[in-house]
Formats: sequence, structure tokens, C-alpha cells
Amino acid sequence: MGLHPPPTAMAAAAVSLFFLFLIYLVVLPSPGGATTAHPGYPQEEECGLGELAVVRREEYGGGRIVDISHAYREEMPGWELQEGLGRFLRLTRSMDDGDVAYFSELRLPAHSGTHVDTPGHVFRRYYEAGFDVDTLDLDVLNGPALLLDVPRDKNITAEVMKSLHIPKGARRVLFRTLNTDRQLMWKTEFDTSYVGFMKDGAQWLVDNTEVKLVGIDYLSVAAWDDLIPSHLVFLESREIILVEALKLDHVEAGIYDLHCLPLRLRGAEGSPIRCILIK
Ligand SMILES: *[C@@H]1O[C@H](CO)[C@@H](O)[C@H](O)[C@H]1NC(C)=O
Repeated sequence: MGLHPPPTAMAAAAVSLFFLFLIYLVVLPSPGGATTAHPGYPQEEECGLGELAVVRREEYGGGRIVDISHAYREEMPGWELQEGLGRFLRLTRSMDDGDVAYFSELRLPAHSGTHVDTPGHVFRRYYEAGFDVDTLDLDVLNGPALLLDVPRDKNITAEVMKSLHIPKGARRVLFRTLNTDRQLMWKTEFDTSYVGFMKDGAQWLVDNTEVKLVGIDYLSVAAWDDLIPSHLVFLESREIILVEALKLDHVEAGIYDLHCLPLRLRGAEGSPIRCILIK
């Protein structure tokens, strides 16, 4: 009997072996290359027929979260650009050249795609004082927001603003305009006939509402004809944040939780921004 371990010791050894086996199972890469799949892709795409299919989504959580940022694309329109953004991403190192990883560099106007403007954009004194993207108030950029439709036959004037009856207390308003109907953000060539705020419309908002975040569906909140005057009216107090080129197609007008996060680019007067609506 002395040669045989007691039953409790045998049980303990069996249990240890079992756990070792479990660890072996977990650590060993499983066949079929499942471990090479990107963790962000949906589960069902990790298996399949040896083909890696990518699904791009505009909504998440069964429609609970709506992405209202545009994807950056080479053919996306850019400010005063005839031929769109062009090649904004360049691989500086590549596995094709025997490197251990892909490594790319971004070259993008700060005001491209869905983006935010800071007070420094149009005021020299604010620019020099450092009112950059990193100073924007995340409290303004995140919270309840009203998405509303504006009349399709006019730019946003004081008269239009008055007719919208924006409720007192609304701090964040996203203005959906003819730009969405015309799908301007899907047309490569920059189009100056977009709808935006005329100076008196911007002034009306400043004087008569509590709105601190103004969102719009093309590259500028200000109509081309009042480009600088409208920006000046909005940004002078440094209390209003302008979010431009939002993707407002396929979302119903109404109240949502808005979440917008710009990059912390020190010294930048504008930045790409990711914005989502939560129902
Ligand atoms: C808005 O203003 C632009 C010029 O800034 C003009 O080209 C466009 O036709 C106007 N849109 C409407 C709907 O009036």
C-alpha cells in the first residue's frame, strides 16, 4: 500500500492534470486560424468558408446606437476641393515589404469629414491664445440633443429660425437640411450651393435660444454667402461648438442622447469628430 498514493492524493493529481489540460486547450492556437480574426468583427465572421467578410454598420445594438459620422473615403468631398479628399492614408511600413506590421500615416485637412470648429478657427486672438480642440467642453459635446428638419426652400435665416420653435432649454440642436436630401456628402466635388446659416439666422440663435451645440449636414454651418459673418456670430462668445458634415440620413427627427468626441489635437482649430446618437 505504501507504494500507492492515498485516494485523496490521486484525486488531487487528477484534478491538477485536468486543469493542465484546460490550460493547454486555452493556450494552444485552435486550428482554422480563429485566433487571427480581428476581435472587433462579429462572431459569425470568424468561422465561415475561409473567406474574411467585413460588415460595415451604421447602427449598433439593434438600432439603439446610430453612427452619424461619415466614414472617411478618398472620394469624400473636402472643403473647396474639386476631386475630394484623395489619398489621406499612406502606408509607411508594410508587411508586404517584410515588415512585422502595417503602419500608416494620416494626412487630412483638420476640417474634413464630420468635424468640429473651435473659436480659434475664425478669430486670431482666440487662435493665438490657444483656444484649440483640446479646450472644447465635452459637457457641451455630450448630452440630450434635438434633431430637426428645416424648410427645404431657404437657407437658415432669422425668419426660418423663428419658425422652428426650438424649445427653451434645448442646448444641442442638429439641423437637417436640403443638404441631406441632395446627398451632398456623397458627391465628390465641393458644392457651394449647400444650405447653411445666414448671419441673421446665426444671430437669432445666439440671441433667442440656449443652444450651445449647432450641428449641420454639410461641411459648414454657415452658408457660402455668409461664410465668415455666420462663423463670427457663432464663435465669438466661445460658448457655442459647431459640428459639421454630420450624417443625418435615415434617422427620425426627435430627441436623442448625442455623444461627440473630437481628437485632443493641441494647437488645432478643428478636428475630425466621431458622433453617435443613442435612442
Ligand atoms: C443657400 O445659399 C447658397 C449660397 O450661399 C445658395 O447657392 C443656395 O441656393 C441657397 N439654398 C436655398 C435652398 O435657398
